[in-house]
Formats: sequence, C-alpha cells, structure tokens
Amino acid sequence: MIRLWIGLFIAFAIYTCMVYYYCDKSQKTEISPSSNALVGWNIWQNKNCQSCHQIYGLGGYMGPDLTNLASDTTKNDLYISSFIKYGTAKMPNFNLSDSEIAKIVSFLKWVDKSGKNRVSKEKVTWTGNYKLDN
Ligand code: HEC
Repeated sequence: MIRLWIGLFIAFAIYTCMVYYYCDKSQKTEISPSSNALVGWNIWQNKNCQSCHQIYGLGGYMGPDLTNLASDTTKNDLYISSFIKYGTAKMPNFNLSDSEIAKIVSFLKWVDKSGKNRVSKEKVTWTGNYKLDN
C-alpha cells in the first residue's frame, strides 16, 4: 500500500513540475486596466450587463459572449458603441452618455487582451495547458 502512495506522490510531483514548465509564459504577463477601462468596468457592473452577456463564457445567455468582441475585425468601435447607445429589440437602451459608452468600449478592449472566451480543442496541449495565438 505504501508503494502505491509513494508512486502516486511521485506522479503528482512530476505532473506539477510539467504543468509549470510547459505553460505558456506569455499568459502570465498581467495587463492592468487603464483608468477609463476601470470606469467602464464599474458601469458594466452597475448596469448588470453580465446578466445577459458572458465574459470568458460566464454570465447570462440572452446576449452573445463579449470577451473577444474587440478583436473581431468585422466589428469596430462604432459598431460596439451603437449597440450600447441604442439597444435593440432584445437589449435595453441604458441611456448612457457617449463618454460612458467609450469607457465601456475600453473595458471591453482590456477584457479582450486578457483571455479567450473559448479554447479550441486543438490548442490544448497534452499537459492540459493551451497556447494563445498572440
Ligand atoms: C436584457 C439583456 C441584455 C442586457 C442587460 C445587455 N445586453 Fe447587450 N445584447 C443583448 C442581446 C440579446 C444582444 C444581441 C443583439 C440582439 O439580438 O438584439 C446584445 C448585443 C450586444 C452587443 C453587440 C455584440 C455583437 O457581437 O454584435 C454589445 C456590444 C452589447 N450587447 C453590450 C452590452 C453592454 C455594454 C451592456 C450593459 C450596459 C449590455 N449589452 C446589456 C442583450 C442584453
């Protein structure tokens, strides 16, 4: 029985080392939010955008995941701002000012740099880590 425990401990130790060794170091660089992004984050929370939208796949499912909206080349700042400014039949108009909207856009840009909403299976390495494109 003791051999089994020792074996399991060694396997655990080796696996732990591998997870750290093979992880993508670039993911560890923290990008701190600008002051505008922080204000935008606050508005995001006060208006409870997360009740309908997900970030990193977490949140409500009525609207789309917005994690990587900012790097979607088919959608520019004006596109994003227009949605927030006017709302749609399903999304309420929050009557936000243009400067508040610009701050939400900088928040969404910061979120976009911080991670991916979905990791494709192909990118997951055998250690369980994954590689980011950028
Ligand atoms: C009641 C649910 C709801 C809330 C709350 C909500 N949204 Fe939405 N939002 C939606 C839906 C649904 C869509 C998709 C457009 C549609 O179907 O009308 C959307 C679309 C968007 C889009 C465009 C996304 C794309 O890829 O086209 C942005 C940007 C957006 N919302 C931002 C926000 C922000 C910022 C807030 C908070 C201030 C917010 N939403 C709050 C429901 C919501």
